[in-house]
Amino acid sequence: MVTLDNRMDCDTKCSDYRILVIDFGSQYTQLLLRRIRELGVYSELFSWNVSESQVSAFNPNGIILSGGPHSAVDLHFPCVPEFVFQLGIPIFGICYGMQIMSQQLGGEVQHLTTQREFGCTRITLVTESILTNDMCDYVDNITGYSVLDVWMSHGDVVTTVPQDFTVIGINKYRQVAIMANEDRRLYGVQFHPEVTHTKQGKNILERFIMCICSCKSSWKVANIIDNIVMDIRVKVGNDKVVLGFSGGIDSLVTALLLRRAIGCRFICVFIDNGLLLHREFDRIKNFCDKNYDLDIIYVPKEQLFLDALIGVIDPEEKRKVIGRIFTEVFEEQISNLVPIKWLVQGTIYSDIIESGVSLFSSKNVIKSHHNVSCFSGIMNVQLLEPIRNLFKDEVRSIGLELGLPYSIVYRYPFPGPGLAIRILGEVKREYCDILRKVDCIFIEELKRDNLYYKISQAFAVFLPIHSVGIQGDQRKYEWVVSLRAVETIDFMTARWAYLSYDFLNKVSNRIVNEVEGISRVVYDISSKPPATIEWE
Ligand code: XMP
Repeated sequence: MVTLDNRMDCDTKCSDYRILVIDFGSQYTQLLLRRIRELGVYSELFSWNVSESQVSAFNPNGIILSGGPHSAVDLHFPCVPEFVFQLGIPIFGICYGMQIMSQQLGGEVQHLTTQREFGCTRITLVTESILTNDMCDYVDNITGYSVLDVWMSHGDVVTTVPQDFTVIGINKYRQVAIMANEDRRLYGVQFHPEVTHTKQGKNILERFIMCICSCKSSWKVANIIDNIVMDIRVKVGNDKVVLGFSGGIDSLVTALLLRRAIGCRFICVFIDNGLLLHREFDRIKNFCDKNYDLDIIYVPKEQLFLDALIGVIDPEEKRKVIGRIFTEVFEEQISNLVPIKWLVQGTIYSDIIESGVSLFSSKNVIKSHHNVSCFSGIMNVQLLEPIRNLFKDEVRSIGLELGLPYSIVYRYPFPGPGLAIRILGEVKREYCDILRKVDCIFIEELKRDNLYYKISQAFAVFLPIHSVGIQGDQRKYEWVVSLRAVETIDFMTARWAYLSYDFLNKVSNRIVNEVEGISRVVYDISSKPPATIEWE
């Protein structure tokens, strides 16, 4: 299992400066982490019950307490471990983070029945503070105070700040919006600085991290690469290594990092589960053969996966079945390759977070990513995940730095369970074949119209329902496919892409004319949330 305890097994020395975020389950926590890393400072999420030894091993320059869905008024609220307040390093509480800090340090928090604030609002700065000095979106004509546009989402409020704290900002109801104890370097804000609607949010985070925590920008692509390469070398030594290789950007970047660290001393294993896009292996093999001399073992196991998926309808069940078979096949391969000592995977940070491993609680699992926690403890092989602490955009930057072409780096992500989660209900080879053809047409047209790189991800979904159509003079009673295209920055939230009617019309015509078995094409106009990007 990947646990919080073994999280720091790889690139923790990537940056001299680091901010630890204590996660109380806010929907914005990942965004917060990204904002910190965008400042060039390394940051990691830890659960609210993080231990003292974990914190001292991470050695943060400052701690941020995230927001969360709980009420600090409740008796059983999740709280900040007491030792955190004794560390003497700066602490910054956001929303629930501020309320819980206030509650634990002797202030008071009350539940609001009216005067709650959700969305854009304004706060007034009433006292000087290092956190907000010189920041101003408007000047209040009457008082002359600075006013900031902020994003709030709260039902509780700090009614009394703890002893030795000062109220720095107030909201329109004159309630506490910012509080600070400058001597102890403890700060709290009721709004969300990580959300772009808070106009000075980035500046406030920067002020806390760079000025108050004295961090410097050192989380840079070149440093990250050097440190990961060094880490791989130290760990692996002269041992033999095998890499789980799907040919996606994550495993490709991992392969290139391995290459840089240990030369050709590793083998890539590519398992074909029959749930891949059209000629996926050929595409990646040709690319690698032309550009890098990777040793790739191809393992065709389509039938095994399809057999195991017979009768499996539930999406999570499908993921589990695929993950299980994948592990079994992989184990078998490794046993043929002894003496392998290390199994390397291209797991990235969002795989871990989305699988609920490091989140507030396991009930937050949205979709289990099968590359997380599959292979631990097998056959005395040790697991190495060199890019496990990186977000997708960071992996992409590394890919470009390592010389991968833009077309590979910005290729649309393809999920581990493949077409199985784009075929609703039971998976059959016939449906996979249809989907591959439809997907090809859709992608081809996106490229032809220069739309491919303007949207973040696009694919087709197979709906196992029959619909009546007409072709020539013939009645058709055939399958339905949905096209899905989204625009997103971080894949955590997404907007459906506003593709033109002309374009959709062209793609739809081609699909019903060229792909046998399809009588109807629909376009998915759901955003995430409440929908997710994939249908399952
Ligand atoms: P959702 O559907 O959760 O997808 O909005 C967000 C992004 O993650 C991809 N995705 C996966 N990737 N294994 C993966 O490697 C998975 O199990 C998986 N599920 C979703 C999805 O394609 C989108 O880019």
